Amino acid sequence: MKTIVITGASRGIGWHTAQQALAQGHHVVAIARQQAGLEQLGAYTRKAPGRLSTLCQDCSEVAPTRNAILEKTDQVDILIHNAAAFLKKEWQALTTEDMEQLYRVNVITPLRLSQALVDHIPKGGHILHIGSVGGVAGSLKFPGLLPYSVSKGALHILSECLAVELADRGITVNALALGSSATEMFKAAFPGQEAGSTPEEMSQYVWQFALNAPSAVNGQVHTVSSQVP
Ligand SMILES: NC(=O)c1ccc[n+]([C@@H]2O[C@H](COP(=O)([O-])OP(=O)(O)OC[C@H]3O[C@@H](n4cnc5c(N)ncnc54)[C@H](OP(=O)(O)O)[C@@H]3O)[C@@H](O)[C@H]2O)c1
Repeated sequence: MKTIVITGASRGIGWHTAQQALAQGHHVVAIARQQAGLEQLGAYTRKAPGRLSTLCQDCSEVAPTRNAILEKTDQVDILIHNAAAFLKKEWQALTTEDMEQLYRVNVITPLRLSQALVDHIPKGGHILHIGSVGGVAGSLKFPGLLPYSVSKGALHILSECLAVELADRGITVNALALGSSATEMFKAAFPGQEAGSTPEEMSQYVWQFALNAPSAVNGQVHTVSSQVP
């Protein structure tokens, strides 16, 4: 049984990733701000062989998040930074506060939470950043998604840098640059459009990668996309 910490597990891809880990008998620490989605996860996985610990917590409040995680477990085998802030806004209207908020949740929080937990991640552990094709250099870009895409680009480079920093500890760090999946975030980004995957389908890939990548993949930004957007 591994212990998996997943931020942003009250809905969407994070919720389904947590569900899959629980179905395979792991201990999941599921974090989100809204209790309702975490309770639904508990109800849905009541008979699953895994163990669920829920934390109703804004993960960008790093110190309380770290302390709450360590009340549930003293070892984190897989840390999945999945929670993200999203903003769709005309670029000339963007403010410093907009950019700081996106960076705080999408870039700074993954870094600070990894720093705060690294001494509890064993050799062979995995830090996985959930990125986006929008943050991949050369990918098709869309109006209004500048702050989100820029923050995900930074997250991808954070993964590459952190893989180097943590190599001597035997901790693997990767990013998955996801394509479209039918979640609330996708609906906000591309209203009325059909996504390339369901969150169930996307989370199957995310979970298998989170579990199996450390043996063969490190310091990579791996694109997971079937259509654009
Ligand atoms: N869906 C797509 O097409 C797509 C494409 C590319 C990349 N992605 C990436 O995939 C990941 C999951 O996205 P999704 O589509 O599943 O989005 P979603 O349905 O909007 O879910 C986002 C999750 O993050 C949580 N969250 C947001 N801010 C948080 C905070 N400060 N603290 C704790 N939890 C927080 C939300 O829960 P609460 O509101 O309860 O806190 C929710 O559980 C994100 O990193 C996103 O950028 C998604």
